[in-house]
Amino acid sequence: MKLSNFMKLFKPYLFEELYRKAGYFRKKGVDVINLAIGDPDIPTDSGIVKKAVEEIKNPANHRYPNTKGNEVFRKAVSYWHKRRHGINLDYDKEISILIGSKEGIAHLPLVLMNEGDYCLIPDPTYPTYRTGVWMVGGKIHYVPLMEKNNFLPDLSKIPEKIIKKTKLFFLNYPNNPTGAYMDKYYMKELVKWARKRNVFLALDCAYAEMYFDKPTSSIFEIDGAKDIAVEFYSVSKTYSMAGWRAGWVCGNSDAVCALNTVKENIDSGQFNAIQNACAYALDNHEKIVPKIRETFKKRADTFSLALSKSGWRFKRPDGTCFIWAKPPVDMDSIKACDYILNKTGVLLAPGSGFGKYGEGYVRISTTEKEEIIKKAAVKISSIDWRKI
Ligand SMILES: Cc1ncc(COP(=O)(O)O)c(C=O)c1O
Repeated sequence: MKLSNFMKLFKPYLFEELYRKAGYFRKKGVDVINLAIGDPDIPTDSGIVKKAVEEIKNPANHRYPNTKGNEVFRKAVSYWHKRRHGINLDYDKEISILIGSKEGIAHLPLVLMNEGDYCLIPDPTYPTYRTGVWMVGGKIHYVPLMEKNNFLPDLSKIPEKIIKKTKLFFLNYPNNPTGAYMDKYYMKELVKWARKRNVFLALDCAYAEMYFDKPTSSIFEIDGAKDIAVEFYSVSKTYSMAGWRAGWVCGNSDAVCALNTVKENIDSGQFNAIQNACAYALDNHEKIVPKIRETFKKRADTFSLALSKSGWRFKRPDGTCFIWAKPPVDMDSIKACDYILNKTGVLLAPGSGFGKYGEGYVRISTTEKEEIIKKAAVKISSIDWRKI
């Protein structure tokens, strides 16, 4: 069978490859610790689960949902942003529910880009930013995230001739994979920059509540941002609900409504029982989230201490469930991960899988229990790199 030209753009998803690798080593009898994937291990809060069970029993929820999400969830989102960021979002026109933020991120380029238009994508990157750009026949300009710039894009280095043809810019903070943070001062500069150049911003806030020291801001705290931006939020990491598949897009009403129109032609929305359980999660945010945040901060500190004592080079993450680090010896990141896996049974994600500027780094995920994190940290920090 001959597959489409479009399929030539897609390679197996990086994380699927990593799952396969872990499975292969397990079959060989290796006790693999998989710290390659950011899949939260903490069970969803029991109050959220109880609410979902009640909602599943309600026959009204067994009918089709609507694509943009029910009013209960959208109103809870609007109220949450008001409490959390002090901003007003119209639950009817400026908020749309997603089946996980990944699907909204993948579809957004369809509403903003035409064939040949450019999209700015960070490097290293979360891979899904490319998906919709490929779907519309768009072009990608990669914007390096470098340690010397605190892993923030250097806006002055993006060529003007590319900017002229650019419709969309994806950014993600706290950042996967680097763990970096974007402060409000940078956000203000970014909004000014984007407004002047007519570039639409898509801020991926999947880790917005996984900050360690300084709370994150929403771009909509900045005047004029709603004209040129949307934000994507996810319940996956915030409430440890990755398997429930829910999130939302908010901000510019033209983009939010257009994205909803695209989705109406593709999906029929998320199960109302899950949406209502998500609304409960948002309403109880202050009771649920600090514990989760504290757990990930402690894990990052445990791992960071072990790595810094054993010669690894890295910047302590400001948030997320990742540590982005260079092994004590400069080497190709795939080789480094294979070496670590062979020596210790710990599977990490090679930085090069996230882009050219990820080369030399590995990404360590802290989405396993404390005992496992400690065990992996001891194993990795005891590797003798002189023998390589
Ligand atoms: C940077 C980033 N954005 C978005 C997502 C998608 O999250 P979800 O689809 O679970 O809401 C992820 C998931 O790992 C992520 O790492």
